[in-house]
Amino acid sequence: MSDASPAERLKALSGCVAACTRCEELAQTRTQTVFGVGNPEASIMFVGEAPGADEDRTGEPFVGRAGKLLDRIVAACNLKREEIYICNILRCRPPGNRNPSPEEAANCREYLDGQIEIVDPDYIICWGSVAAKNLLGSKEAIGRMRGKFYEYGRAKVACTYHPSYLLRNPPAKKDVWDDLKFIMRDMGVELD
Ligand code: URA
Ligand code: URA
Repeated sequence: MSDASPAERLKALSGCVAACTRCEELAQTRTQTVFGVGNPEASIMFVGEAPGADEDRTGEPFVGRAGKLLDRIVAACNLKREEIYICNILRCRPPGNRNPSPEEAANCREYLDGQIEIVDPDYIICWGSVAAKNLLGSKEAIGRMRGKFYEYGRAKVACTYHPSYLLRNPPAKKDVWDDLKFIMRDMGVELD
């Protein structure tokens, strides 16, 4: 395994995920697992919450309405979706899009940590409260986690609102834009 490329290592891990039955309910209700997509050696990784109906159907993270908004945010940062690596706290859709349970997040953590270790990003963006609290083990409100960097392994981690929250509450788009300017500035990119 030691001389396998990040792409090969991700592929192997994705095979384990596709066969995973740790969460009995999710393994029974999912159409398929949603592992993650993007550049296996990305310098930025996005972490969302869990697949929704569109992701469960297609097998790709962030392809539904929230994903379309995420694509617009990515474009506004002069980034391309293919440059980033995108995954979630969970790899299976919770029925009815309920929040992931702590047990489910714990069951899936080995896969998330595996993806982080393989991709080895410089920056991780947690989209929404579930991603931020789970990744960082924080109990703080998402609004209070914005605007600063946390550390996870070698990566600098920033937290912002979830695109689904922006669909319900469009005025918060300004806050997300401020957060992205803050992150991109640290990466040496000025956005206007
Ligand atoms: N919301 C998420 O958090 N992740 C997805 O992949 C899709 C919607
Ligand atoms: N509440 C959440 O759970 N997530 C957000 O992104 C914003 C508010």
